[in-house]
Amino acid sequence: MQNKINVGLIGAGTVGGGTYKILKENFSEIFRKTGMEIVVSALAEKDLNRAREVVDEKTKIYEDAFDLVKDENIHIVVELIGGTGISKDLVEEAIKNNKHVVTANKALMAIHGKELVSLANKYNVNLAYEAAVAGGIPIIKSLREGLVGNKVEWVVGILNGTTNYILTEMKENNLTFDVALKQAQELGFAEADPTFDIEGVDAAHKITILASIAFGIPINFDAVHIEGISNLNQKDILYAEELGYKIKLLGITKCMKDSVELRVHPTLIPEKRLVANVDGPMNAVLVQGNMVGPTLYYGAGAGSEPTASAVVADIVDLARNLESNNTTTIPILGFIKDEIKEKKILLIEDITSEFYLRLSMKNESGVLAKITQIFAQHSISIDAMVQKEIQEDDEIVDIILVTTNIIEKEVNNIINEIEALPENNNKAVKLRIEQLNK
Ligand code: HSE
Repeated sequence: MQNKINVGLIGAGTVGGGTYKILKENFSEIFRKTGMEIVVSALAEKDLNRAREVVDEKTKIYEDAFDLVKDENIHIVVELIGGTGISKDLVEEAIKNNKHVVTANKALMAIHGKELVSLANKYNVNLAYEAAVAGGIPIIKSLREGLVGNKVEWVVGILNGTTNYILTEMKENNLTFDVALKQAQELGFAEADPTFDIEGVDAAHKITILASIAFGIPINFDAVHIEGISNLNQKDILYAEELGYKIKLLGITKCMKDSVELRVHPTLIPEKRLVANVDGPMNAVLVQGNMVGPTLYYGAGAGSEPTASAVVADIVDLARNLESNNTTTIPILGFIKDEIKEKKILLIEDITSEFYLRLSMKNESGVLAKITQIFAQHSISIDAMVQKEIQEDDEIVDIILVTTNIIEKEVNNIINEIEALPENNNKAVKLRIEQLNK
């Protein structure tokens, strides 16, 4: 029976401060739920002045985090410094010192999760990472526990608050990409290096983790296809809207019989779907279970207290495990370790999807006929076609096409043939469409 749990925090930044605040302000509430006194007994932070601003005198401060992970009084180590360098060494060291570890670090889990999970299993300690995906939304818990009776078929998520904020501002308030990004940075959603947000890397870290626990496959960040939103044109947001779609940066993973899709890219989704109306910095995850059907999880995906809320949920889980002397109730990746099996991850050209294409063509008679003929030669149907005159230049038109389901390499061949036409003016824009209805 363990009634007092000592937590060692590494990092007094946004999430570290939030975690300390929740454990302090909600101490009684957490006691009522656990019967345990969970306190931050130590904090590791290089900037000692900052450390003292965050914690009171009862918390011991370590300048060197490697000393904290060896502190015999600490039961749970919480890594909140981010990145994949020193944080990896610290998590490994904590595990080797038989500490249970909580991390909010998606990059660490996506890139080194496979080895860290093995190490944690070897030392029979727990490694918890709820805050690594979709901030305050308890999606790891939902997948591993709430949906345990299901075979998960697919998971689709708005997993990056910064890009969702940018897309919302571009559409609703007509802001340029750069202005919207600057605002997101000022509001504190963006990564230290915002290219991770806008180029889809952050969302890719998160969907990689979700794919692993949804389908029981090893964490494999190298296999994700990643496209961000930095090349997205405001025009396409407007044209998509006219066709009844919104554009969201989605993490998408689907489990087929012999393969898995794992991808991040801007995606058209029907505007009537609930998830299409998740705006601003909010996150949402849609999970299709074979028994429950679709389930949707919505909430703040970034920020101090929402992310810390997930960190504290992990701390409480581990504290309860400690109390019952049980460290392995729920496997770290949701599947028992011998059942985590490799599955082929499809190359992007092998996925099947509907596509939105914007072709930039010279405004000459017969051009539409040539385009439709190319589609016909490939036996591909066009679901919708709209022609837009470009105001500044009536010599050039935008032709917007929506295809039926087609394998991506086939659509690439069609685009190549269209771009070879003498009437072609510019590279075609290709975006994938997800109906999210089954
Ligand atoms: N930069 C991330 C986002 C923070 O914008 O969602 C949360 O992981």
